Amino acid sequence: MPTRVLFVCLGNICRSPLAEGVFRQKVHEHGLDDQFEIDSAGTGAWHAGEAPDARMRETARRHGVSIDEQRARQLVSADLSRYDHIFVMDRSNLRNAQALDRSGRHAGKIRLFRDFDPNPGDRNVPDPYYGGADGFETVYQIVDRTSEALLRELSE
Ligand code: 4NP
Repeated sequence: MPTRVLFVCLGNICRSPLAEGVFRQKVHEHGLDDQFEIDSAGTGAWHAGEAPDARMRETARRHGVSIDEQRARQLVSADLSRYDHIFVMDRSNLRNAQALDRSGRHAGKIRLFRDFDPNPGDRNVPDPYYGGADGFETVYQIVDRTSEALLRELSE
């Protein structure tokens, strides 16, 4: 049985698509494709059906990761049952994901992504959507090192 991992942000067009793409690439490089099922979603529906933000795609491409084929979707309560691990990008996402879990049954598997960051800062992945270009590179650096640590943790 594969380990099912879901990355969650607000719009599912910047941070969580990058986390999905980077984590998938690391899984592939370690020859572990069969052992993981990976997806991403947004707590909001505004961008459902859209490709990731062009600035995030460009940043990913520069680092050798393609996220071009992804399409945004909204997080639904069935995801909370289906996935083994739900990694949210910030505390606002955490509150919104927890609110979908009416029974509280899945509370233990909804966690902040940066809980695994060796240099976790305030543990939020900053939302780059309304900022400048350097925000996207900052998100890449956070996502890259955190995904590395996360894969080590999950494949132990
Ligand atoms: P994301 O970034 O949550 O990393 O995908 C955002 C994308 C869109 C919006 C906010 C954040 N928005 O307000 O439309």
